[in-house]
Amino acid sequence: MKATAVAPSNIAFIKYWGKKKGKEAERLPANGSISMNLSNLATTTTVAFSKKYKKDSILWNGKKPRERSFQRVIRHLDRIRELGKISERARVVSINNFPHGTGLSSSASGFAALTVAGSGAANLQLSQKGMSILARRASGSACRSIPSGFTEWLDADSSDESYAVSIFPPDHWNIIDIVAITKKDEKEISSTEGMSRAETSPFFEQRLKKMNKKITDCKKYIKAKNFTSFGNLIEQEAIEMHTVALTSNPPLIYWYPETVLVMKAVQQWRKDGLESYFTINTGHNLHIITEAKNQSNVIKELQEIKAVREIIANKPALGARIIEKHLF
Ligand code: PMV
Repeated sequence: MKATAVAPSNIAFIKYWGKKKGKEAERLPANGSISMNLSNLATTTTVAFSKKYKKDSILWNGKKPRERSFQRVIRHLDRIRELGKISERARVVSINNFPHGTGLSSSASGFAALTVAGSGAANLQLSQKGMSILARRASGSACRSIPSGFTEWLDADSSDESYAVSIFPPDHWNIIDIVAITKKDEKEISSTEGMSRAETSPFFEQRLKKMNKKITDCKKYIKAKNFTSFGNLIEQEAIEMHTVALTSNPPLIYWYPETVLVMKAVQQWRKDGLESYFTINTGHNLHIITEAKNQSNVIKELQEIKAVREIIANKPALGARIIEKHLF
């Protein structure tokens, strides 16, 4: 009754920001989304269920998580116990190899790893679709960290059809996500809370009208490896999602001055012939997307910016999977 899984974080190219009305508890998104799994941002988690445990215990990077995160993990363990018809308490040990709560989607990798390890420990025998649905119930974007490579979270009206599929394997396209960390401060407003305000923005309804076309175009550009069209689309999409956040009531400003500094630098590099595009999730750190041939030049440019404290380059990666090496 013990299993360990590793799961990647992912970067959304077409983003999930807002849920369908009345389907908030099931985490059914207002629109479909597209992302890529990241090779160097990962969570490893071991889960064991046993009669010898008197209560659930969770260690996350060596510490007990804060109450809100702790309760969220317990709720997910309860979902797993319910599906597995078991009542044993759990021991969970988890390690993240990157800062959490800073816009690098640690809840995606964290809940994908918890889902796969927990299902293994409870012997649930879920299909990849079932695993993606279960992960989604804990954290929306986690469902996209289950399948491999480039993934699409399908737009659907019911919980059992709202899951992610692989649209291209990791080796389909040699693009790189260079994460530029300017600050490790945790964001004050979580994605769940932030997106609950989405529909107060006057631009939200407008945004929704265009999402199907964005998804179709994004898939077309990935398939054709059309980097210029793809890059322009994803940068515009990131700014649009943040515009909804900025114009929500009360407004949400996730960016810091350092965020805008790097955004402007990326646009300048483009003018100078170094093609790269930025995207930003909930938070202030940036993901800079470029082709593999430009990776070292983008890193060199980032190293020149004082505000950039850490750089993590990622290739497209496999999805969540069981590994043999347990953490306890
Ligand atoms: O799944 P959550 O609750 O972490 O929300 C993810 C929100 C964004 O990262 C901004 C967009 C996305 O699709 O990943």
